[in-house]
Amino acid sequence: MKTIKIFDTTLRDGEQSPGCSMNLAEKIAVAKQLEALKVDVIEAGFAISSPGDFESVQAIANEVKTAAVASLNRAVKKDIDASYEALKGAVAPRIHIFLATSPLHMEYKLKMSEEQVLEKIKESISYACTLLPDVEFSAEDAFRSDRPFLAKAVKAAIDAGAKTVNIPDTVGYALPAEMGELISYLKQNVEGIDDIDISVHCHNDLGMAVGNSLASVAAGATQVECTVNGIGERAGNASLEEVVMAIHTRRNLFDADTNIDSKQIYRTSRLLSKTIGVSIPPNKAIVGANAFAHESGIHQHGVLAKRETYEIMTPESVGLTTNKMVLGKHSGRHAFEDFLKELGYNLGKDELDTAFAQFKDLCDKKKEVTEYDIEALVSDKTAKVTEHYKLKQFVVNSGNAFRATASILLEDMDGKEQAQVAFGDGPVDAAYQAIEKIVPVDTTLQSYKINAVSHGEDALGEVIVKVSAGDKTVTGRGLSTDIIESSILAYINGINKLLG
Ligand code: KIV
Ligand code: ZN
Repeated sequence: MKTIKIFDTTLRDGEQSPGCSMNLAEKIAVAKQLEALKVDVIEAGFAISSPGDFESVQAIANEVKTAAVASLNRAVKKDIDASYEALKGAVAPRIHIFLATSPLHMEYKLKMSEEQVLEKIKESISYACTLLPDVEFSAEDAFRSDRPFLAKAVKAAIDAGAKTVNIPDTVGYALPAEMGELISYLKQNVEGIDDIDISVHCHNDLGMAVGNSLASVAAGATQVECTVNGIGERAGNASLEEVVMAIHTRRNLFDADTNIDSKQIYRTSRLLSKTIGVSIPPNKAIVGANAFAHESGIHQHGVLAKRETYEIMTPESVGLTTNKMVLGKHSGRHAFEDFLKELGYNLGKDELDTAFAQFKDLCDKKKEVTEYDIEALVSDKTAKVTEHYKLKQFVVNSGNAFRATASILLEDMDGKEQAQVAFGDGPVDAAYQAIEKIVPVDTTLQSYKINAVSHGEDALGEVIVKVSAGDKTVTGRGLSTDIIESSILAYINGINKLLG
């Protein structure tokens, strides 16, 4: 069986799309989880694009020990030098260079002739190969390129030393049969292509990104570029979990599989969703809340009699456990730690102490503590946020006969306490107004979402807010059985990130 490489671009193509930005600590936490997922390549960013991107490529390169770490570049020396510098600490650094090859992009965007594009490919790839052995070339808008010219561009990249050539469907225009044909065409018309990795990078504008990636694999592509939960520009990129599970479930058909540890899929998906505050639709394949739920009587009966009647893969294979009531008031620290390990969390001593204390607290408030509750408690322990402000106390009054009022007491990093009172249009607004009077930053609430982590009247309420100050927007998260408290904690979490 062949091994299809998974090139994850969540932290580059995904992160650059609106509403998906992450701070440095969050990117590192996601990169570590991608490593646990065992992706082959993590595209950490576009080093030249901003000092922040440079810093995150560098930090991820230093942190990641097993996967290759890539940084994106235009076909220019100063970009390549920046990536080389940022990737110095990586165990397996990769320079990724892109240049458009379609007539539209060459004429209107690049204002370059075919000859100039070929020359630029040769020049930039050859230069990158003098710095590092692992160089990838992407022919941007490859699918809409003239095929014979695309073949020349791919050949130029291979001759100049590229070890991977990527064929993107940048605008998500292809249909699966066409994408497969394009890969077959290149395999037949480019000498030396079988000695390198052929990669594909499909966008989802027509909902075909996963189908196009799979058709390319069937035609001979050996690397797929994708993102967790399919995030990315416009309608997103091919979703990693769908590509991986489709290849795995139909591995006999593809005669191929990936290196991914599929048991880490659910956890990775949740971590990303919480980090960026973008929820996963319930019917999303593989990771949606309903992906393994059997509601109709006929289906339930079939699954109980024999799972395979309606299940083509098990929930356990993507990291979901099926025991609902897992731990309770009398569970000890060992049972808690073992359970976390089963869910894929290996916390350090301090994080475990905090999580265990929170778990015990929760047991006093909730009759049943499920895996979803525990997962919600620990899932963001990995990206630490400096607590510039901590909630000490709050009192909120609201009703339909008077304006809501909130009184909030916060403690700052020096242990100094500050209290404020405010009116608002409802309890959350009043609480947020009071917080705004205390903190030294002018914040705007961009969005507010609340959801129940598990079922029942005593479910934990998780609030996710987007808060901005100037041109910076962050995601804040709060968790409590009291939804006003979750709302306040989410806002303070966002403010702490802004202050950090
Ligand atoms: O969509 C695209 O073409 C890209 C390239 C930079 C690989 O993201
Ligand atoms: Zn892209």
